[in-house]
Amino acid sequence: MDMKVENLEQHWLPFTNNREFKREPRLFVRASGMHYFTPLGRKILDGSSGLFTSAAGHCRPEIAAAVAQQLETLDFTPSFQRSHPGAFALADAVAALTPKGLDHVFFCNSGSEAVDTAMKIALAYHVARREGQRNYFVSRERAYHGVNIGGTALSGIVRNREAFGALMPGILHLRHTLLPENRMTRGMGAKGAELAEDLTRFVSLVGERRIAAVFVEPIAGSTGVIVPPRGYLERLREICTRHGILLVFDEVICGFGRTGEPFAAQSFGVTPDLITMAKALTNGAQPMGAVAVREDIYRSIVEAAPEGAPEFFHGYTYSAHPAACAAALATLKIYRDEQLFARGRDLSGYFLDKMFGLSDLPAVADVRGFGLLAGIEVKPGKAAGLRGNELQAKLYDRGLHVKTTGDVAIIAPAFIASRADIDSIAEMLREAIAEF
Ligand SMILES: Cc1ncc(COP(=O)(O)O)c(C=O)c1O
Repeated sequence: MDMKVENLEQHWLPFTNNREFKREPRLFVRASGMHYFTPLGRKILDGSSGLFTSAAGHCRPEIAAAVAQQLETLDFTPSFQRSHPGAFALADAVAALTPKGLDHVFFCNSGSEAVDTAMKIALAYHVARREGQRNYFVSRERAYHGVNIGGTALSGIVRNREAFGALMPGILHLRHTLLPENRMTRGMGAKGAELAEDLTRFVSLVGERRIAAVFVEPIAGSTGVIVPPRGYLERLREICTRHGILLVFDEVICGFGRTGEPFAAQSFGVTPDLITMAKALTNGAQPMGAVAVREDIYRSIVEAAPEGAPEFFHGYTYSAHPAACAAALATLKIYRDEQLFARGRDLSGYFLDKMFGLSDLPAVADVRGFGLLAGIEVKPGKAAGLRGNELQAKLYDRGLHVKTTGDVAIIAPAFIASRADIDSIAEMLREAIAEF
């Protein structure tokens, strides 16, 4: 492929400062293992697994071969009223990883679609059980649930909402759990479990049978890594169960080993009713998302519907696309054969040592982390977010790709990372942050 881009103007990049990018484009033309390569052949260490996608490292030949073979054999199947064997094999493989009972899988093409799909499943479930008055949703301040209208309405990040008006009625936000008392805590903080009681207040506010579902990221990722306080998720689970509210874990970042187990639900020992997932499901090699659903939720919706018509009027042209299924099946095989979740779990201690080792830098405001996910927050400059942006540019110049949100660098190496890779990530972070 041509390495030169003649015209940068027409492509409108998402979540990007387009004017800055077009003045100073940062392009990748190749990737391998832990690295990206620029058009001039510069090697960039990937500190965020792409966008938390490429947990098995980049350009795995097994995945490329599976996708190529699939496209040569069966490139597309209509997803409504038709299907193909890969979709069923993948649903089985996903259900083998999800917590027991969450064994029905609805496929879509992204994390955002997974979230909006889960919202609709929750509503349809309550309608099927003659509790259709349950149409409030609860999420959290600082949450990120993708960018479709439902997910944006659930979102708790002001910049992601402010241009888009009222979005959806009936959304209530729990307080976030980033407490100053838990600053510089490795793993789960001691303070804050009681914040889950906001949900009880919402039940009192809107009525006993009005809330359909609560959406939380077990670890809030995109806002800058907020690990739940000890006891918090258990408390949410208990309140949801008490009031017949569905609990949805949005595991688009946490899912597939990031926390050391297949899902954060297992790492934290709390079982939700639905799990949304995407990203590392295909190692990032194909767009795909999914929602895992408790058995009786699936049955309630399917069995309440009359025969002779679809039971759930929702789905995408590309739901369970054959190439995405092939990529996901090959990815899950790699995770299994190479025991990558266990590898990530074993590496976590070393990784967190290195990340918390940066806390002595005067410009570091906080370090947070769990598993192979860490947030390094720098003290704000003239305006919030400027330093974060500057930091990712400084790191890129040094040879490290990381995702930043506001003033937080989000570090999430692939599970194949060596200790030397972790050392390099920490060194480049130290040098760049020391310049503030
Ligand atoms: C928790 C969570 N939900 C949803 C999404 C949206 O996923 P996508 O960008 O694939 O639509 C993300 C993306 O980072 C996420 O972190």
